[in-house]
Amino acid sequence: MSVVALVPAAGRGERLGSGLPKAFVPICGEPLLRHAVRGIVRSGCVDLVVVAAPAADLGTASAVLAEFGDAVRVVGGGATRTASVRLALDAVQELDAGPDVVLVHDAARAFTPAAVFQAVVRAVRAGAGAVIPVLPLVDTVKRVDDAGRVLDTVDRATLRSVQTPQGFAPDVLRRAHAAGGDLTDDAGLVEALGLPVLAVPGDPLAFKVTTPFDLVLAEGVLRAGVAAP
Ligand code: CTP
Ligand code: MG
Repeated sequence: MSVVALVPAAGRGERLGSGLPKAFVPICGEPLLRHAVRGIVRSGCVDLVVVAAPAADLGTASAVLAEFGDAVRVVGGGATRTASVRLALDAVQELDAGPDVVLVHDAARAFTPAAVFQAVVRAVRAGAGAVIPVLPLVDTVKRVDDAGRVLDTVDRATLRSVQTPQGFAPDVLRRAHAAGGDLTDDAGLVEALGLPVLAVPGDPLAFKVTTPFDLVLAEGVLRAGVAAP
């Protein structure tokens, strides 16, 4: 019984606009990717981390993750997030002993608390084929057309924003990726197969570092000791 975490980290970070891949953007002096992998390892419930890094920067990624030794493998990522996850999943297939749970976790959600990893793994082991951490929406939600005209107000009661780690029974994730498609999360591929996906509570600290404001937030939560360094 083991848990493998696939970490898509091959994005360019265009919305961040730092001029270097997001994985290597420093937060309180350490690359985002190192914070992310440290969080996974510290959760205590993951046996192996497979990072999909920018294909042109595998040496840099390996150097950034050197402190984790054999607990981490680095593979080249792809042109989209889905492609990067698929490449990391292919690397897991080459392992002798297959895991009983596969997590997919964005490097950009570098401050995700251990309890979220543990809850997702628990839910997969309790029998769910696919598990996602979610948060309720805090803002009023409206649909707006291209001209800025409000069309209607959406009932937010059943809406959730979706985080990672997403957890899967390995065969479910393999089937979902084998069926193809390119979406912003892996659970969407499972939904496309008509298979059930279970939502569990996420955490605000699992926010995705996407914009320059998120960098301020990330440094703030680290400095305040709200997130583990
Ligand atoms: N990702 C990836 N491979 C890609 C694109 C994205 O592994 N080709 C990863 C990112 O590194 C990130 C996660 O998927 O950890 C979520 O993507 P996102 O937040 O969109 O990151 P970027 O694609 O880097 O950012 P942007 O869209 O602003 O360029
Ligand atoms: Mg992106």
